[in-house]
Amino acid sequence: MKQMLIAGNWKMHKTLKDALELAYQIKNWVATNNLRVEVAICPPFAFLYPIAELIKESQIGLGAQNCHYLPEGAFTGEISPPMLVSIGCQYVIIGHSERRTHFNESNELINKKIISALNFGLKPIFCIGETLEERKEGRTFDIIENQIKSGLQSVENKLLHKLIIAYEPVWAIGTGISAKTEQIEEAHKFIRKTLQELYPNAGDNILILYGGSLNGGNAKEILSISDVHGGLIGKASLDNREFTKIIEYAEQID
Ligand code: 13P
Repeated sequence: MKQMLIAGNWKMHKTLKDALELAYQIKNWVATNNLRVEVAICPPFAFLYPIAELIKESQIGLGAQNCHYLPEGAFTGEISPPMLVSIGCQYVIIGHSERRTHFNESNELINKKIISALNFGLKPIFCIGETLEERKEGRTFDIIENQIKSGLQSVENKLLHKLIIAYEPVWAIGTGISAKTEQIEEAHKFIRKTLQELYPNAGDNILILYGGSLNGGNAKEILSISDVHGGLIGKASLDNREFTKIIEYAEQID
């Protein structure tokens, strides 16, 4: 069976009460299903600790949606990797397109965050993907290659087993229309080839997730694609039934 991770990115949604309720529902569902796939949820910073407490004896992993690259300092409003580790996070999303677009995160900054997260023992979910304009201009692979090479600059081979990549074509995020099977297949194959060239000994084992309007209706088809090792899910992860439906499909794949 291929290794899979189904991760929910809750983005800036829910209040504490609703967040705890959703985490509780997912926890209960997971407890009654003997899962082979890894499941993780990435709530907003404010809810991480209470959710960490709620799910601590469950099979559900916990991730943040961002972090600073330094362990501490005078950076008002920021959260560091050791802080995340100290409250029970195992994952951190880095380089999401919404951070690249709205918060001007560069490949260089993302690289620093990935190195720091890995050094502090977190599993970075490193997001890459082209915009619609870049795709129309035929630059998809150049963009992805550049994001991978800059983002992973000086990342040590021995830490790669913790790295997870999420291919999220920007034009498929939040639109309700996922990328087509062939487009996902082609992009994942290209990402794998790029990783193998960069890391001949470790490039085969890095998980590559797909993200962008993944939901209960298309999960079966998308998760069956050969080099898709799970999903990073936005909207559909905000609803217990929709999210667990995706996990169920992941479980059925050999
Ligand atoms: P949607 O699933 O809402 O398209 O969001 C995808 C995403 O950005 C996950 O990080």
